[in-house]
Amino acid sequence: MAKREKRKAYNPRHRRYPRDAELHWRYIVSITTGDFRAKITATTLLEKKQRGEIITVLTAYDYASARLEDEAGIDMVLVGDSLAQVMLGYENTLPVTMQEMLHHTRAVRRGVKRAFLVADMPFASFHISQRESLRNAARFIKEAGAEAVKIEGGEKRARLIARMVEAEIPVVGHIGLTPQSVHAMGGYKVQGKTLKAIEQLMHDALAVERAGACCIVLEGIPREVAAMITHELGIPTIGIGAGPECDGQVLVFHDLLGLTLAPPAKFVRRYADVGAVISNAVHAFKDDVKSGAYPSDAESYHLPKETLAALQEFGERKRAVRV
Ligand code: KIV
Repeated sequence: MAKREKRKAYNPRHRRYPRDAELHWRYIVSITTGDFRAKITATTLLEKKQRGEIITVLTAYDYASARLEDEAGIDMVLVGDSLAQVMLGYENTLPVTMQEMLHHTRAVRRGVKRAFLVADMPFASFHISQRESLRNAARFIKEAGAEAVKIEGGEKRARLIARMVEAEIPVVGHIGLTPQSVHAMGGYKVQGKTLKAIEQLMHDALAVERAGACCIVLEGIPREVAAMITHELGIPTIGIGAGPECDGQVLVFHDLLGLTLAPPAKFVRRYADVGAVISNAVHAFKDDVKSGAYPSDAESYHLPKETLAALQEFGERKRAVRV
């Protein structure tokens, strides 16, 4: 008996229990969602970096796009506060509220089964006090089903990130061109172009990592600087306008599809012109309705034969009475 117990004890070299645990997790995934692909977690992302496997990230703001991204095998889905601009038509990301972010995160949650789901904390939701920031972060996890929150800022946010991690809330950092600092930065400008700025970015990245963030977004910085940070950090870096050496890449969904109305930034690659597809479809609908080509008889519902006959007979009798 003592021997059996000894054999069953956890032996890190044999990875006995971790592998069992992994199989158990896969099994849970299969019976609850019918999805046999392993769930992406913060640990999976770290392992990807360690294996040199690139991480794919896209923003999503609703059920349909989230589901398509998840089914395509995107690793991380981010409910970005960019929704303020691309979904709500604001000039920048500053006006979007906690309520709006929670609303969209819930919709995305319903579409995502496998990807790691991250919600962006909106401007002023984590700037006032630590207590309020923690409460807001917890709402994304508890009420909207996010698996992590994203916070803009480096060294300045390190204490807050550490506190959130302590409260079991995984955090994604975000440094470089941080859109919530648009006024402080004097516009959307590439960051980290001088030696002093590079040093500060490195401090920011290390502070975010030491605080316990599970990965970090590097936005709008020179490729060379992003490569240095990626090499220096143990956690994955996710680049946007930060060159190809990052551990992963993120794009705003609407930019990728050609659905943003403003001219795209240099780093955006448009994989489709969905804006033109939608515009053509809307024009075609308008023309068909005006010309009477839509709806056709085949696109209409019809009465059953007997009801139609009875209706015609009724009409004839009514006409006969009138005469
Ligand atoms: O809000 C957003 O979409 C973002 C990504 C571009 C990183 O923060």
